[in-house]
Amino acid sequence: MPPIPQRDTAAWRRIDAAHHIHPFTDPQAMAAGGGTRVITRAKGVHLWDSDGNRLLDGLAGLWCVALGYGRAELAAAAEQQLRQLPYYGSFFHTTTPPTIEIARLLGERTPPGLDHVFFGSSGSESNDTIVRMIWNFWALEGQPEKRILLSREYAYHGSTVAASSLGGMSNMHAMSGILPGVAHVMPPYPYRYGQGLAPEEFGRRAADVLEQRILELGPEHVAAFFGEPVQGAGGVLVPPASYWPRVQEICRRYDVLLVADEVITGFGRTGRWFGCDTYDIRPDFMTVAKAITSGYLPLSAAVVGERVATTLARKGGRLAHGYTYSGHPASCAVGVAVLRILAEEGLVERTREETGPYLERCLHQAFDDHPLVGEVRGVGLLWAVELVQDKAAGKLFDPVGEVGLRCLAHCFDNGLVLRAVRDAMCFCPPLVITRGEIDEMVEKARTSIDQTARELGVA
Ligand SMILES: Cc1ncc(COP(=O)(O)O)c(C=O)c1O
Repeated sequence: MPPIPQRDTAAWRRIDAAHHIHPFTDPQAMAAGGGTRVITRAKGVHLWDSDGNRLLDGLAGLWCVALGYGRAELAAAAEQQLRQLPYYGSFFHTTTPPTIEIARLLGERTPPGLDHVFFGSSGSESNDTIVRMIWNFWALEGQPEKRILLSREYAYHGSTVAASSLGGMSNMHAMSGILPGVAHVMPPYPYRYGQGLAPEEFGRRAADVLEQRILELGPEHVAAFFGEPVQGAGGVLVPPASYWPRVQEICRRYDVLLVADEVITGFGRTGRWFGCDTYDIRPDFMTVAKAITSGYLPLSAAVVGERVATTLARKGGRLAHGYTYSGHPASCAVGVAVLRILAEEGLVERTREETGPYLERCLHQAFDDHPLVGEVRGVGLLWAVELVQDKAAGKLFDPVGEVGLRCLAHCFDNGLVLRAVRDAMCFCPPLVITRGEIDEMVEKARTSIDQTARELGVA
């Protein structure tokens, strides 16, 4: 007897509207659009909804399903672990073999010096873990006044209280305010902030803004800087090559801990195992989640560098922090299988050498001359096409975001899932995507952007 009853779309929608509060959704807008879309099955890079429509998933679920859908090996890893030991936690001197194994494998894969792992179930949780560890670290080091956390506008670090404060999304701040002692600086977003400057010059300036802020706040008060190697949910903001080296230098100069949030960029997305490898970043912490299990089960980790790990181990005593599902054995077993498949199928190299460059070429070919497109930017298999009001002047739409949503609706109607961030159409397909599927994705995006342009009267 299957646990989930069979219902038609209308019935699912009625029940959903009555009972289900959706994340990042306006219920009135959803109702006006006819109700929720119900996804019922998936295979490879394609999804099917409850009306039988087939969609190409150009966003890998929510930037997470790196290995694509329907991977029997991952289902088998979960099933085997659920049968043998479905749950045991890591509190009070216990743990399980898959938890230890994935901690070891992560230590092997992450950049040198990042060898200690604390598990959670989401990127948000792991960022909150890191915040608590940072404050604890500075207190143990005799500098309890080092409490301020810096991050960037348009950053996304999650939805818990600390993570949403760290994020630079004004609508999230408007909902519930932010923690005191969190400040945001300009992101490396040349298309918006750096017009007229060469990208490398702008990258250095964006880093210098961080330095100015640290000096204004007083380095003795600044605990850490959080940054995604490439800002994903902020609209795929790809930093100029000059940005990260300068940011690292500044963090070192003022003894500000550096946190690389790799929740989207981790596990091959940028063409190397981590964004930190692509941009040569040596952080004090890394946050990983999403593709660590390819989205099949929830798992995240705060990866802790040597300096903090040593202080916590020597001076911290009993760590007063933990989640029931820290190191969940089934999630960790799936994670071990994902890391193995990524390596065995050479998906990181394939993203760097084949599919990433192919997507890059296709997007430039389709959109460089398009009158509605201001910029095509990205790295690996993480890209955005920014729609603008005036291509020649590089002018964004005002208000921002409406055209992106309109284009997204066309994408769905044409059988393509993307994400509209403001007016940037974001691409983050499963790493297993083939050239033929990339053609299909770009062609559908082109049709949808053409339709949007026609409606706006843009020739
Ligand atoms: C960079 C980054 N950090 C953190 C998060 C939050 O992760 P979660 O939704 O698993 O809490 C996200 C989610 O999109 C993210 O993109």
